[in-house]
Amino acid sequence: MVNLKLNGLIISVEEGTTILEAARFMGFPIPTLCHMEGLSPYGACRLCVVEVGEGTKAKLVTSCTSVVQEGMTVRTASARVVKARKMIVELLLATCPQSKVIQDIASELGVRQQRFRQEYEDCIMCGLCVRMCEEQMMAKAIGFRGRGDHRSIGTPFDMKSEVCRLCGGCIYVCPACQLRCTYTEPEKAICGGCMNLTPPCLEKEKFEDMMCYMEPCVACEIKNR
Ligand code: FES
Repeated sequence: MVNLKLNGLIISVEEGTTILEAARFMGFPIPTLCHMEGLSPYGACRLCVVEVGEGTKAKLVTSCTSVVQEGMTVRTASARVVKARKMIVELLLATCPQSKVIQDIASELGVRQQRFRQEYEDCIMCGLCVRMCEEQMMAKAIGFRGRGDHRSIGTPFDMKSEVCRLCGGCIYVCPACQLRCTYTEPEKAICGGCMNLTPPCLEKEKFEDMMCYMEPCVACEIKNR
């Protein structure tokens, strides 16, 4: 067992436990975005930051990827932590304001404005879809491509995937709700299936069999009225 001080409480948790797991077990909430049980931690969104250490040596770390250590001191909601989280949410809102998941987190954290240049990206690069495809669906149909500004998620060389089973797992976990297992451009997104869009990476008949996990699917609702 490992002993640590969490928000002033001395606790013992099993070796290998992450700070996030320990905090949630003790009932201290920590917001997360790129973390999902059953998928490996990735540390992309930084939303789960906590403060570790004392005094001037205290630093912010991502709790989903940091494992507890003997004698460590952790604060999950210090002023520094709250400020950092709010800033991160503002940046996420600047990137993908249409995401209901991000909007909800912003609301919970009391973020009422964002001060950065507004973008309307379809993807926040959280990597949930990639990990879902690889670790739960054992398909590895999609992955990260490119670097920096050109980084995106999709199939190798934008070609139709031979290994994609159309399970919809990537759609299910996507917090931006527009990223699909094929492309990041909305006009090629699978969710637009009921609007008769045809992603070039899928055969037409397969595309029509694609299960829609959107509940309710906005496009279907409009069409059926
Ligand atoms: S939830 Fe920890 S970095 Fe995203």
